[in-house]
Amino acid sequence: MTTQLTTSNPVRHVDGSDLGGAALNGVAPPSNFPDEATLQKLANQFFSSVPNTGSTSGLNLDLPDLAPPPHAPQPAEPITALSARAPNIAYQKSLNPEIPEHIPNYPDYPERRAIASAPVIGGANIPKPPFEPHVPETLKHPESIPQIEHTLPHSSRDSAYYFLNDFTAPEPAKTAPVSDNYSVAESFQLPHDDHLTQLLIDDRIDQKQVNHTGFYFTDIPDIYSKDQQYSPEKVFKFSNAHQPLDIQAIRRDFPILQERVNGRPLVWFDNAATTQKPQTVIDRIAYFYQHENSNIHRAAHELAARATDAYEHARNVVARFIGAPSAKNIIFVRGTTEGINLIAKTWGEQNIGEGDEILVSHLEHHANIVPWYQLSKKTGAKLRVIPVDDTGQIILEEVPKLINERTKLVSITQVSNALGTVTPVDEIIQIAHAKGVRVLVDGAQSVSHLPTDVESIDTDFFVFSGHKVFGPTGIGAVYAKTEILENMPVWEGGGNMIQDVTFEQVVYQPAPNKFEAGTGNIADAVGLGAALEYVEQLGIGNIARYEHDLLEYGLNALSSVPNLRLIGTAKNKASVMSFILKGYSTEQVGQALNRHGIAVRSGHHCAQPILRRFGVEQTVRPSLAFYNTTEEIDLLTSVLHQLARNKSI
Ligand code: ALA
Repeated sequence: MTTQLTTSNPVRHVDGSDLGGAALNGVAPPSNFPDEATLQKLANQFFSSVPNTGSTSGLNLDLPDLAPPPHAPQPAEPITALSARAPNIAYQKSLNPEIPEHIPNYPDYPERRAIASAPVIGGANIPKPPFEPHVPETLKHPESIPQIEHTLPHSSRDSAYYFLNDFTAPEPAKTAPVSDNYSVAESFQLPHDDHLTQLLIDDRIDQKQVNHTGFYFTDIPDIYSKDQQYSPEKVFKFSNAHQPLDIQAIRRDFPILQERVNGRPLVWFDNAATTQKPQTVIDRIAYFYQHENSNIHRAAHELAARATDAYEHARNVVARFIGAPSAKNIIFVRGTTEGINLIAKTWGEQNIGEGDEILVSHLEHHANIVPWYQLSKKTGAKLRVIPVDDTGQIILEEVPKLINERTKLVSITQVSNALGTVTPVDEIIQIAHAKGVRVLVDGAQSVSHLPTDVESIDTDFFVFSGHKVFGPTGIGAVYAKTEILENMPVWEGGGNMIQDVTFEQVVYQPAPNKFEAGTGNIADAVGLGAALEYVEQLGIGNIARYEHDLLEYGLNALSSVPNLRLIGTAKNKASVMSFILKGYSTEQVGQALNRHGIAVRSGHHCAQPILRRFGVEQTVRPSLAFYNTTEEIDLLTSVLHQLARNKSI
């Protein structure tokens, strides 16, 4: 059977000339196009050199090659459905019409299916670890570990392509509904469900607010009068439902999880660095550029209205997601780093002077150290540090002792990016407020793992990055209390943040616009809104519960590996499993894992002070998200056991 493929990938002839996309659409190739056998041979040569060729930077690690342990099932998807997001697969199909229509399913776990058949909304229902400590079955009988060849295409498989083996009946590709703003569903028949539609309608900017131009947003202060329509009650209530998640269904929402790395299914354990994006976010951003793209707040035309609505809808979603009282409290920034810098350079410069003190913890990411260090150098203020105990938890009793009449700010992470410690921010805020000290919470590593409610914890500032919570890079948010924002001086100057400009005087917009000079990252703000709505649908409470079990499982598993030292063993942790393995540099471990398709970060994680507190410069850092599975942890553990065994022989 032949397939009509649509791809933007041009077919490149062996002599280097482009044949153009038409060749993929059934148009006869030129006469000098090589015959099928030649193409097959070339493809075989090419692919035999591709898998498992991960560079080891010239290091001879003498690493074992494991048979892949049982792995989470990969959904069968029509290749054509993947053509838009995996054009090289479509390209390979174009080279060989004999290639089956579907990429293969990997063997499923019967017990996983049994679990998944329990009532679930999508997720977490993992069993208690079946072992204590974790010893993967294969490692109890190492002699039985089957060795597989590096070059999978030369194995007994018929196909030249390692990804084309057994395959099962296709399931139609699932298209996630795209959330959207006021007019798009009507105008473009966008798929949407009733609940979502209702939310969108509720969230619409009231068209009665139009001014004389006919476009409400040309009069910026009016935009936020839609606050009366904003209601925290609109949060999806799933989070209280205590429903387990169907992880396999969720995994299908993330196209990149179908990727292969070195011939193996990708295992994405680098979530603390960045998270993967669900199709709904990818679709939302594409939709913005296809149907809404315009600058915002500025022009009296339809697309400006759509773009402004989409952008302000996203701001509302951010406010709702973190429990802010109003969208007016949300400033869009590039990410956490820019957010903390904004606060340091505005509120900080206004309120912190010579002899004043800023309190941070030993756990902080460089982004929550350097801006305060710079401010201290500039003003003559002093940076003081809350110590941690040997598990990596804040020593809470030290906090009141470190706060005095010169303390102006406590700036603290909610979850450590290097160790995963969940800090007691509620208590710290109470202690600080009792002494009249403002608090900034760095939520970069917490928003995707724990419920956030800035009002109930009463933090003065909260910052986070979109890309750590399944949204795009280059977008994040600052929350600050209203009275702070009103008095906080502006930062960058330019368009969008002004009400009136003469050469003698400039009048600024009210917050948040006065902090958003120039054209912002509109499309990615919209994408961030879609990401947060996706998380809301799963329920952050459900996510936290699943990840808690998964983390326990993972920490158990890792502690079974000889000569592996976990760095950061606080009781209350999220996502992160930092460790070092005796006999290997962290880079070597990272490379060995990469050969098995496992992505982890190894290095200092931009948190050198806390790693040095534990006597190390670097760690290997697997970090989990809700789309990770126990099977992936088993694979990680198996490779680490092999590495450990190798050194002991
Ligand atoms: N802050 C990110 C990390 O921890 C980059 O990896």
